[in-house]
Amino acid sequence: MSDTILETKGLTKHYGGVHALEDADFVLKHGEHVAIMGDNGAGKSTFVRQITGVEQRTRGTVVFDGKEVNFGGPLDAREAGIETVFQTLALADDLNVPDNLFLGREKTKFDWLGPFRFLDYKAMRDDTLKGLVKTGVKIPNIKNTIANMSGGQRQCVAIARTATFASKLTIMDEPTAALGVQETAQVENIVRTLKDQGESLILVSHNMRQVFDLVDRIIVFRRGRIVANLNKEDTDGQDVVAYITGAKTGAEYEGAA
Ligand SMILES: Nc1ncnc2c1ncn2[C@@H]1O[C@H](COP(=O)(O)OP(=O)(O)OP(=O)(O)O)[C@@H](O)[C@H]1O
Ligand SMILES: [Mg+2]
Repeated sequence: MSDTILETKGLTKHYGGVHALEDADFVLKHGEHVAIMGDNGAGKSTFVRQITGVEQRTRGTVVFDGKEVNFGGPLDAREAGIETVFQTLALADDLNVPDNLFLGREKTKFDWLGPFRFLDYKAMRDDTLKGLVKTGVKIPNIKNTIANMSGGQRQCVAIARTATFASKLTIMDEPTAALGVQETAQVENIVRTLKDQGESLILVSHNMRQVFDLVDRIIVFRRGRIVANLNKEDTDGQDVVAYITGAKTGAEYEGAA
């Protein structure tokens, strides 16, 4: 078996004349945790959206778990084993917390009744509460719809979803940007747990401390291109900032790790 869980080659996305992502060659190994950093508008979220099928790429290939993939949408990606926390949250506003967690993979009971399927609301509520405990988030009533929640609460629901289901790859796009200190610490604990469990992770973050605490390797995007691929041990915050701002250029970048 290959030691690679995800590989992109020449991944490119143009929005009309805007070259948001240009020729991204990226490799992630099984169990590896990688951070993606870069200024606002550098193409980080665009990269995530092309991998997860939220949008159709302009060109390039994505190989996930040994197969070339072109997901029709985020639910397809989830089905294949990619659990994503999007920066602009992909939660359904008019659904409550358990319904959001289980969207696309509802639990059923009485399956022996043939063609009739009954949703197992109690099992889904119980699992939801377990997931929320892991994130440390306090949501007054999980039966409330998402539309009535704060930004931070919504973010926690999305993260609870990744902590509830085993996946082959977790992608988090600025998961803690809207969170308080305590919730941020809890989310960082979730990331550490995923590492212990051998799950692969892509973490998009602007938080240098968080990145150096959590990941093995740092990828820097600048103006739609990958300009640096740095092992944590071989770099420091100042070096990373130099790549982010363009003070240092990406001549050293050689594609894969
Ligand atoms: N739907 C869209 N239509 C047109 N341009 C877009 C669209 N989405 C993103 N862009 C442009 O693509 C570029 C990359 O945006 P992207 O959201 O990937 O940046 P980012 O690195 O995630 O930034 P941030 O740190 O602010 O989240 C930006 O110039 C942005 O304006
Ligand atoms: Mg973004």
